[in-house]
Amino acid sequence: MAMIAKQCPEIPVHVVDLNQPRIDAWNSDQLPIYEPGLDAVVREARGRNLTFSTQVDRAIDESDMIFISVNTPTKTFGIGAGRAANLEFIEKCARQIARNAKGHKIVVEKSTLPVRTAEAVKRILGSEGYGATFDVLSNPEFLAEGTAISDLLDPDRVLIGGESNEAIETLCDVYARWIPRERILTTNLWSSELSKLTANAFLAQRVSSINAISALCEATGADVDEVSRAIGTDSRIGPKFLKASVGFGGSCFQKDILNLVYLCEHFGLRDVAAYWEQVVSMNDYQKRRFSERIVKTMFNTVSDKKIGILGFAFKKDTNDTRESAAIYVCRDLLRERARLAIYDPRVGEQQIRADLAAACTELNGQLTDHERELIQTNVTVVNDSYEAADGAHAVAVMTEWDEFRELDYAKIYQSMHRPAFVFDGRNLLDHEALSELGFEINAIGKCPERRSRN
Ligand code: UDX
Repeated sequence: MAMIAKQCPEIPVHVVDLNQPRIDAWNSDQLPIYEPGLDAVVREARGRNLTFSTQVDRAIDESDMIFISVNTPTKTFGIGAGRAANLEFIEKCARQIARNAKGHKIVVEKSTLPVRTAEAVKRILGSEGYGATFDVLSNPEFLAEGTAISDLLDPDRVLIGGESNEAIETLCDVYARWIPRERILTTNLWSSELSKLTANAFLAQRVSSINAISALCEATGADVDEVSRAIGTDSRIGPKFLKASVGFGGSCFQKDILNLVYLCEHFGLRDVAAYWEQVVSMNDYQKRRFSERIVKTMFNTVSDKKIGILGFAFKKDTNDTRESAAIYVCRDLLRERARLAIYDPRVGEQQIRADLAAACTELNGQLTDHERELIQTNVTVVNDSYEAADGAHAVAVMTEWDEFRELDYAKIYQSMHRPAFVFDGRNLLDHEALSELGFEINAIGKCPERRSRN
């Protein structure tokens, strides 16, 4: 919305939410999310044609077009728990729009939704019976965190699904102010909704595919980065999303695939569901494999050993930790009774402890006293990488923050126990240089004994 306000100064954009502290943060100098370049965009438009408030009813009444941008987390209870999307917030939102709308409104689904949710939204809007009329459009968002501003300024495509050409044209006109028309794709409602789930499933599938091959590389002596480069230069495959890692994270990939799986099952397509579910299973395997490799390499025990964890966010340039591989690797190491010193340039202590507690709690379960105690006593959150490594038996890179490349590794080596292990979950570091310093390197898709030529 900030980008629309920036690019279309004559369109008033009201961002409304029920959560007062969050709105206060959007009105302050400390925005509630970290995203490179976002501050400048908000600063330019805020107070001009961009406002943040909790006056939801009033904004609905005053607007011609209303974007529903609430979250749709995976259900944790009832039918479809662990797979289906929780649509409670979408429904509440639609009902509030219906209660407060007059005349004609265009309602745009921005949240990622299972296919045919627009139909439900349309029925809810029509059923409250206050006389307003509605068109419903689907306009999924494809930006990635960390690169949101450039993704929004110069997207590969914008997708708009709907039934009314007039409503579609109205939204096209907004984006066409800065995006070439040929990159604005229009489809029917269901295609648009399904395309978002499918795009994320395909992207995640590429990561799981290369991660599957990384296990084979470790066993055989092939180097996964070399394999990636070799296959990525085939123009039919392409170079992107082939970086082997400790596992994909983020708020979308797993959630959207599980949604797709649930949909397939709902329609009786069991084989299709099983096919896509395997992408998530492979990701779980990759995360588990990494923590098991740490334990195995460190003489089959990490109990009471200090391990420095570099990075906790699910990728660099964001403070988002949702589904971050780091959470699960840290949980597994804690269960092995390691002592963890965790550092992330953008993620704070409260978030890290909350994520670990949530990961230790099984679905609908309780945090055991033992695990609460482990998180309390065996986790410290530190202020830099040197503190994380000081006196440690190992350091593990979990997020590909640029600053981890620039560290003084000679100094780090001096401060660690011997052998000084490095587990590079992102293949970020210069392994050759680190081995020369004396480190024992373990990296994704690389066999320690058979180092590659470069
Ligand atoms: C994703 C989609 O890219 C975006 O289009 C959609 O709107 C939301 O979901 P995001 O979750 O922000 O965006 O991050 P993305 O860059 O896609 O990365 C997802 C995860 O995959 C990260 O944990 C990342 O580290 C991992 N990844 C990505 C890899 O492990 N290897 C790769 O080659 C690429």
